[in-house]
Amino acid sequence: MAAELFDSRRYLIPFRSSLLPQIFCDTLVIGSGVAGLRAAISAAEHGEVIVLCKDEPQNSNTAWAQGGIACVWSPDDTADAHVADTLTAGAGLCDAPIVRRVVRDGPARIAELLDWGMRFDHGPDGVPVLGREGGHGLARILHAGGDATGRELQRCLWQRAAKAQGVRLFTRCQALDLITPGSEPGSPVMGAITHHPRYGLQMIWAKATILATGGAGVVYRETTNPRTATGDGIAMAYRAGASIADMAFVQFHPTCLYLAGAPRSLITEAIRGQGAHLLDHDGHRFMLDEHPLAELAPRDVVTRAIIRRLAARGGTNVLLDCRHIPDFAARFPGIAALLARFDLDAARDPIPVHPAAHYTIGGVMTDDHGRTDAPGLYAVGECACSGLHGANRLASNSLLEGLVLGELAGRAARERTHPGEAAPANGNGKAPAGWFAPARPAPIPIVSDIRPSEHGELDLSDVESSLRAAMWRNAGIERTGARLRDADDMIGFWARYTMDKIFDDTRGWQIQNMLLVAWLIARSAAWRTESRGCHWRTDHPAPDQAMAVHDCWRRGRTACEARPVRADDPSLRAAPDRPLERA
Ligand code: SIN
Repeated sequence: MAAELFDSRRYLIPFRSSLLPQIFCDTLVIGSGVAGLRAAISAAEHGEVIVLCKDEPQNSNTAWAQGGIACVWSPDDTADAHVADTLTAGAGLCDAPIVRRVVRDGPARIAELLDWGMRFDHGPDGVPVLGREGGHGLARILHAGGDATGRELQRCLWQRAAKAQGVRLFTRCQALDLITPGSEPGSPVMGAITHHPRYGLQMIWAKATILATGGAGVVYRETTNPRTATGDGIAMAYRAGASIADMAFVQFHPTCLYLAGAPRSLITEAIRGQGAHLLDHDGHRFMLDEHPLAELAPRDVVTRAIIRRLAARGGTNVLLDCRHIPDFAARFPGIAALLARFDLDAARDPIPVHPAAHYTIGGVMTDDHGRTDAPGLYAVGECACSGLHGANRLASNSLLEGLVLGELAGRAARERTHPGEAAPANGNGKAPAGWFAPARPAPIPIVSDIRPSEHGELDLSDVESSLRAAMWRNAGIERTGARLRDADDMIGFWARYTMDKIFDDTRGWQIQNMLLVAWLIARSAAWRTESRGCHWRTDHPAPDQAMAVHDCWRRGRTACEARPVRADDPSLRAAPDRPLERA
């Protein structure tokens, strides 16, 4: 029943394209975090690019990232070691060629950031200092501003994009749906219909469209994500007919601040990398009983250990003890300031923490250049499922993915909009003067007819909080088939009177998107009758080799399609280009 409701809806609103204002560009990038901005900078080397930011740039998961960017940078590190750690965390579901490519291209992307003025934390010798996080065999995390890596990265890329010739940045502009000439899967994507509080609805036509909208953490009651992480890109791609893969894999972060009245803020894993301990309410350091790496065990292990400890011993949270870490406030100034607002001092008080939804590993299925199976549509960053993270993302690999695959997707879009043309020789992010003469994408008349709902008024806040609570309970850290079926029933029921509504504001559209994405998560998690990586089924507690495949879902198809995981490609084993001398 839920499938019918979600699959019958091609667009969220009724419209006639010919009656709306029309805007044209070569490449439309939807989303302005690390992946979107890096893609835009690359696409703008040949063509006109529009970047949509649905809020303000500082309200993105990128800007909120604390830990840093994992990269082979130390002379003691090797690409093989980073690849091996990523594959181990990914629990048999990583596409090895993607892992190699991201690890291999990482140092070049970091060197480029340094050239663009990114201020990484560095030692007296000017060389960036490296932090360590869970699952990494050694310190390989570059960071900035202590715990403000994301903010600095967002600043650096936003400034670079704003300066690049041919890039237009539209803030507070929400994409509602991708536009396709037909409504069946396989129809090419030609841009998006958007809404801006001042300009209303607009058609933005593009020859290439890149989704970089981030994840869907907000479908869970407890999340480290900003309010904007409502899964819009995944929902839009599904409606447009692209395949969505591996949605069962939602990564829960073990340590989110848990204080009544405080924002559910991430408490970075880098603190555990500096030696912080997790204590239960008896003061016992329980991770020593759980895993040889104790607090630096993979995230899913730490997360499950916390909730089991709470279930066994009672209490609402565990404690992160940092009292023995010297200069805490200097290394983690953002967290120290947040704690001070609640009269906590990490040098004196253990921090109350609890797991929370953190990262959407599944998403729009792509290849190694962000291409989806909808012609003209690309996806990068958290809304995409590139195969890098497999069944469990290695800490701090996602900003790296955004940089590397963002650049490659921008390049692929450039190749689509200007086939066969080489990038400009000056390579400084600006096309030579007078270069642009692209043919405009031809607008075609598109009519979306939707009958108005026969159901009455709706309390949207209630639907939203019920959905988030149900997802936390039934599709959260530990799952069972019965609970997932209940989630599916509840989502289907709420969808009956929410999906038939025609909203005229962002809130309503986002809740419709959240329902769809929550349903995709529940569906994938119910299909996956095994435990693997961060997907834990207490009724199927072991991995099943037959399920070491990507589960792909597409509008109009009742069953999922299983796609094999891509095996290693020895030709990509080259050592990374490591421009250490630039540091
Ligand atoms: C953290 O800082 O703990 C999060 C890093 C990440 O999720 O990659």
